[in-house]
Amino acid sequence: MQDDQGGGRRGAAAGDGNYALTDLWYYAFPSRDLGPGALVPKTILGRDLVFARDKEGTPFCLADICPHRGMPLHFGRLEGSELECCYHGWRFTPDGRLTAIPSLIEDQEFDFSRINVTAYPCREAQGNVWVWIGAGKGPFTPDMDIPPLPHGDLGPIRIFDRQFFSCPIDHAVMGLMDPAHGPYVHASWWWRPRKSAYEKAKAFAPSELGFTMCRHRPSTNSRGYRILGGAVETETSFRLPGVRVEEITAGRNRVVALTAVTPIGPNATEVNQIIYWNIPWLTPFTPLLKRYAQRFLSQDREIVTKQQIGLTHNPPMRLIEDADTQAKWYLRLKWEFARSRTEGRPFENPVPETTLRWRT
Ligand code: FES
Ligand SMILES: [Fe+2]
Repeated sequence: MQDDQGGGRRGAAAGDGNYALTDLWYYAFPSRDLGPGALVPKTILGRDLVFARDKEGTPFCLADICPHRGMPLHFGRLEGSELECCYHGWRFTPDGRLTAIPSLIEDQEFDFSRINVTAYPCREAQGNVWVWIGAGKGPFTPDMDIPPLPHGDLGPIRIFDRQFFSCPIDHAVMGLMDPAHGPYVHASWWWRPRKSAYEKAKAFAPSELGFTMCRHRPSTNSRGYRILGGAVETETSFRLPGVRVEEITAGRNRVVALTAVTPIGPNATEVNQIIYWNIPWLTPFTPLLKRYAQRFLSQDREIVTKQQIGLTHNPPMRLIEDADTQAKWYLRLKWEFARSRTEGRPFENPVPETTLRWRT
């Protein structure tokens, strides 16, 4: 398939403004960012949204624009479970129905069902809030679940970090899944000395909306894993639109890292890194580990920012076997997902079961 060689299309598939897919769950923010009574504005895929919690504490999300005269709804306030616009007091339910126009007099006729604001389905799990970005104008009904995390008690979020990449979602995702940049971008004494590169083989299998690097012992030149002690194993899965989950286990000790990429606009992408663990002795090191995690993600951010300078010339990309195969899969997955939606047929995962080899 030549599509993924980057000749012009650069991975863009159907969806908003042709840069990101719709009809998928996107990571919004950690639950703690949405306090009771708060109205939190956030732009995702170029759509201005407002998030809040209803009386029961369940999150909801509406288009952040009042259908009366365009006021952003996040300037308003919550009245019970309803969101009241700050300009003329129109009120909306969590599912976007208009319930009050205070300026109407008693016997003035008005058909409230004519006006509503788009509601975006929201879900909250494991300390995170996700939002369904549907195609078109809605109403939206999700036909899949939010990306699952590995089974078992993960406990609270131990580390949360968000970084803003000034690049399209595709380059953020491909940069994060690229195995060959490690020795150049992340070389450091504590993770992996640059000179220690050697050949690796990893088994991959298709998994829901993506692929999984099957459970294996991490390379002996990845020092970071050693602190867990014991027989360390790791499994990493990727799924559309840009969600990677890595589970590292050493006996009963486990660390789960979720990396969720959310496009804000065509050249603006947020990368959220959420880490859980069940290892009590690790917890006192949280500030230190957070610094390492931030440093690691900053290196990825800095490298794709530099890459954008070259990409303004729209060069073709030469994606090679096998080091770039995951990037090719990502582009194929994206393309197939968009096609399956347009054609109204089930998604067919294009990823084969295979082993990839590279030297890092
Ligand atoms: S603009 Fe919102 S009530 Fe008038
Ligand atoms: Fe990286």
